[in-house]
Amino acid sequence: MMKSTRRHSVWHWLLFAGALLLFFRLGPVHAEQADEEAEEAEEGPKSSDILEVMAWCKGVPDALDWGQVLRLAKTECRFDAGDDDLLRIGCSREGLASALQGARVVLEVTREQSLVCANGLVFLVSVALAYMRDALTPGEVSRLQVLLWQSLQDNFMLDASVWPVKTHDVLHMFDRLPAPLNFEPLGRPQGSETRDMVTLVVPRCPAALSEALQTRFPGLRAVVGIDEAGRLPSGWTAFKGGREQPTGSSLNAMLEAVETPMALVVTGAALPETVEDLERLVRALGQRRLLAAAGPLVGEDKVYSDFCYQLKLRHYHLGFDPVYEHSVIFDETSASSIRGSWFHEDGTEQKDGPCKLCDTLPPTFLARTEGLRSVGFNPALDGEWAILDFSLRATRTPLVEVLPGPRSVDRDRPPGRRYAGAGFALCPFVAVNEVDSLAGPHLYGRSDVPFTGVSAASAWFGEEATALGLAAAGSPEVEMLRPSKQSRLFMQANHLKEYTGPDGVKRHFGCNLEVTNCPVPDWVYRGWAVPPCCKETMRHLLFYIDAVFREIGVRYIVTDGVLLGSYKFGGMLDWDADVDLHIHNDDFHLLEEKVQHRARQDGHFLRKHANNESWLLQANDHNYLLIELNKRQEYWDPDRVWQIPIQGRLFPAMENSHLNLSSWYGLSFFKHRLRHVPEWEEEHRPMYCSTPYHFNCVDETQVKSGIDCRQAGIC
Ligand SMILES: *[C@@H]1O[C@H](CO)[C@@H](O)[C@H](O)[C@H]1NC(C)=O
Ligand SMILES: *[C@@H]1O[C@H](CO)[C@@H](O)[C@H](O)[C@H]1NC(C)=O
Repeated sequence: MMKSTRRHSVWHWLLFAGALLLFFRLGPVHAEQADEEAEEAEEGPKSSDILEVMAWCKGVPDALDWGQVLRLAKTECRFDAGDDDLLRIGCSREGLASALQGARVVLEVTREQSLVCANGLVFLVSVALAYMRDALTPGEVSRLQVLLWQSLQDNFMLDASVWPVKTHDVLHMFDRLPAPLNFEPLGRPQGSETRDMVTLVVPRCPAALSEALQTRFPGLRAVVGIDEAGRLPSGWTAFKGGREQPTGSSLNAMLEAVETPMALVVTGAALPETVEDLERLVRALGQRRLLAAAGPLVGEDKVYSDFCYQLKLRHYHLGFDPVYEHSVIFDETSASSIRGSWFHEDGTEQKDGPCKLCDTLPPTFLARTEGLRSVGFNPALDGEWAILDFSLRATRTPLVEVLPGPRSVDRDRPPGRRYAGAGFALCPFVAVNEVDSLAGPHLYGRSDVPFTGVSAASAWFGEEATALGLAAAGSPEVEMLRPSKQSRLFMQANHLKEYTGPDGVKRHFGCNLEVTNCPVPDWVYRGWAVPPCCKETMRHLLFYIDAVFREIGVRYIVTDGVLLGSYKFGGMLDWDADVDLHIHNDDFHLLEEKVQHRARQDGHFLRKHANNESWLLQANDHNYLLIELNKRQEYWDPDRVWQIPIQGRLFPAMENSHLNLSSWYGLSFFKHRLRHVPEWEEEHRPMYCSTPYHFNCVDETQVKSGIDCRQAGIC
């Protein structure tokens, strides 16, 4: 919102009460002051819905009573902490006991459902981790660390909210706590067998799959989702309801029953061919600091799919990149590991071959049980959507210590960056195939599009659960297991709007001109980029109204944020929420007389602002993205306008616009700022984003800040 530094933005008034605007403009630093204002507003009639719901979680229906947690924060955790403490706040003894109790509820509940109140979770979990670790098991501690990171990524204006633990506290605490996962080498005890190491975990296990499991892995323990238990092999546990509930929720519950250090998770019809294949995976996991390992899948049609990608996330977009950064080799004496020798190897069949490191996993994989429990699955997600979501979090949560290697130079990591995400290995020496007649299509297994032109992945976006194959499909009667619903849940849970699969097909999940846009505060207040569909709506409306104005003869110039954007990049800013046009005074009456009717004819909507000095152009009457058509005091000469570029088209602007830009935004207008932030903040993080390291942030990690080159030491 470039413009809020200069004038009140109209959509604020449309959507929210004044309290929030005040709140917003204070910026995140004056937290305490803002708190008081917020509390006043809390009682007053003008309080804003979005803030209550998202920042305070007031009245949010959740498994926890957040009102009670907030009272705990205010009454029992209002003390300054000691110098050695992990947080800046301290709590009374009763407060700590309640926080511990709350954290235990969180652990329990999140296996079955996600909690909505990210800010409250940050408080509760931080306090439990800072002061009550001794009362928790190591597994509970690492699970809470993962949940804490996730909540921090989802927070809503945490630093300006009533909750007393701030992003700064969490980032520093994360670096001072031990790494969530320590990956002890799982050396196999003498004489022990694979059956002591591995449990099969199969949320949906049709009879044919169960038979194949018993034939291939006799004697292995298993937790299997079957409805008619019948006679189970010894060591097998039946899990009911696997077809009716999402795989994520089943897996969280089933993993509680696993006693071995590793679990083979099977979410489709693919299985390692033999016990030897499984053992290769056991050796890979046991020797390396990996969360999971798998083999590529060779289907009935002999198509080789390795499911191995780096996930590319930026500004609401998810993409798959087949280029990997690291690989693993187990046989150090292998000729290929010696520089300069001929890359030849004898007796390859008896050896453990190399693996490559990936962000993604195939639907069948061997994982460390503790790691699975800590990272956890999204309880609402099913099948390969649940696996993809798991991968996304495992690779982006600080989980493992970064070992000081020969090339580790990164000594001055920013806060919250001491640990790195966990990796997965893909090992082609492990043979995996699908059980006949149970196989189905995969979400990101194939990069080719068959001759039919329909990508194999499309079933995962479709309406029929049964199209996923006999082993992967959930019950067609359960609405939320419908693949189209699942794809939307996945995108929502991860704040994504565009999905480009390995097959190159791009799928959109955002708004369009016919529907309501996503709530603007969701991204503006977090410091996130404009969602692509919102940007496209605004671009469309700008191009549309320009054409109408030319036709009707309304003279105007572009101004404010979009003018600035043109000077900066020849386009609309990634972080601005509206477009402002300055209408010539002599033509302003045409908006009422002609343009409003024309907009209606064309299926759009023109609303008169209460101040009578503005009209607001919207895609439709319930889409709140705006092109503001303003009448203003300053005169401009229509015969002297310049033509400036915006998104590949030319638009009129006043001559010498840079003079006006400088007077509104200062002579440093080429420096990127989300909004006015205090100087000390701007010094370090000019594009302040309140969800640290989130891929939707417009932050220096995503958009360079454009600071003075002398400050950067390059000129
Ligand atoms: C806007 O115009 C309407 C109708 O002419 C009038 O009733 C209203 O008072 C005006 N509002 C302002 C803020 O001037
Ligand atoms: C732009 O700046 C000039 C020079 O400072 C000023 O005279 C003019 O009124 C400004 N125009 C607008 C539309 O603000």
